[in-house]
Amino acid sequence: MSAPAPAPATVDLGDPATFATHDLDGFWRTLRDTAPVHWNPPVDGRRGFWVLSRHDDILTTYRDDRNFTSERGNVLVTLLGGGDAGAGRMLAVTDGHRHHELRKILQRVLSPRVLDEVARTVRANTRQWIREAVESGGCDFAQQIAARIPMTTISNLLGVPGQDQDHLLGLTRTALSTDDEDVDEVDSEMARNEILMYFMDLVEERREAPGDDVISMLVASAIDGVPLTDEDVVLNCYSLIIGGDETSRLTMIDCVRTLAARPGEWRRLKRHEVAVDTAVDEVLRWASPTMHFGRSVVRETELHGVRLRPGEIVTLWHASGNRDERVFDRPGVFDLGRTPNRHLAFGYGPHFCVGSYLAKVEIAELLIALRDFTTGFEQTGEALPIRSNFLTGFSTLPVRFEPDPAGLDAPAGPKE
Ligand code: HEM
Repeated sequence: MSAPAPAPATVDLGDPATFATHDLDGFWRTLRDTAPVHWNPPVDGRRGFWVLSRHDDILTTYRDDRNFTSERGNVLVTLLGGGDAGAGRMLAVTDGHRHHELRKILQRVLSPRVLDEVARTVRANTRQWIREAVESGGCDFAQQIAARIPMTTISNLLGVPGQDQDHLLGLTRTALSTDDEDVDEVDSEMARNEILMYFMDLVEERREAPGDDVISMLVASAIDGVPLTDEDVVLNCYSLIIGGDETSRLTMIDCVRTLAARPGEWRRLKRHEVAVDTAVDEVLRWASPTMHFGRSVVRETELHGVRLRPGEIVTLWHASGNRDERVFDRPGVFDLGRTPNRHLAFGYGPHFCVGSYLAKVEIAELLIALRDFTTGFEQTGEALPIRSNFLTGFSTLPVRFEPDPAGLDAPAGPKE
């Protein structure tokens, strides 16, 4: 039997410890049923904020860029911290006409056609790393595989030379880490600056000698006839790393952990009883690696009889919306064959994740490589949860793989 749900008034969603110490399933159900527009009160001088937990309300708010803005931050840490330094320049925290134009540029560089080569490399790398892990018996899937796939992918996308990729991976770990207690804010700040400086140099190089990578395409882009500045290009390169690294990594780790614990679902995948694309969507719904995003109210508006006033913060909780029984049949069941699957993992509306295609390619290639090279796998030790009020998942995952000789000995397997 599950533990009783903590009373809503005792749960502080601004505190990362809340997610480490509580099972919130019951709490979210209570909010969805009884308080769909819930007020998380101020704590220790930190501002209060609204909490939306129902799937439909989250969609409505994501769609509504008239009454809500992302320009004062789009996650609790920046919304509560007084704003985002990239506001009006970095895609995720830009609104209106400039957002529309900037998004067209990024959509172009992240389109399936342009990504064809990147997708092929994702496939080759994933297959090689899973094969090596299976042949050696096991590994820490989080550190040895999941950490490498998204950063290598984004580095290839941006045209980061192979010899710099490990250095950059190390810097992003320090800059963005939510799991390493030895990394303090000063180290993170320094690493963030070093990343920005690294990209500044790369932008200069590409201005002089353009290639066919995303940086070269951004450098050649303009909005309303005005070319993007070096700073605009750098900030948006950085946003691809922030947007695409940890989210994909945590999803892949959760995928392997969940499949190891559910042999029935694994067998359905292994026997080709479920389509990989359908499975990818369920993996995303289940992991919901970004627990929330947020907006600031710009015009007074009302939801379920609650008045939301200009300047107030509204947070949208995927962690709850993706388990909403009003939308999902048996939401607490991991079902790789689930259709339809209107999950919120990539958000919705004008800011819908611009990297969703790439993220899906990464997860699909992981599922296909597992299906081809192993007959099954088990978790052999504890998985270490990360500590955050924004992201959820694990930073370690020891796994033992059973090799599948038929798949390992076969020439490159079919895609689907
Ligand atoms: C936006 C989730 C992978 C780049 C978003 C948003 C969500 C999201 C929920 C909307 C944020 C908002 O409305 O404020 C995810 C998840 C991923 C993933 C769960 C992986 C499983 C990626 C990848 C990239 C990326 C691989 C880049 C290569 C971005 C960018 C935005 C964004 C640039 C801003 C879009 C805009 O504001 O128009 N992502 N993302 N994401 N994502 Fe992703």
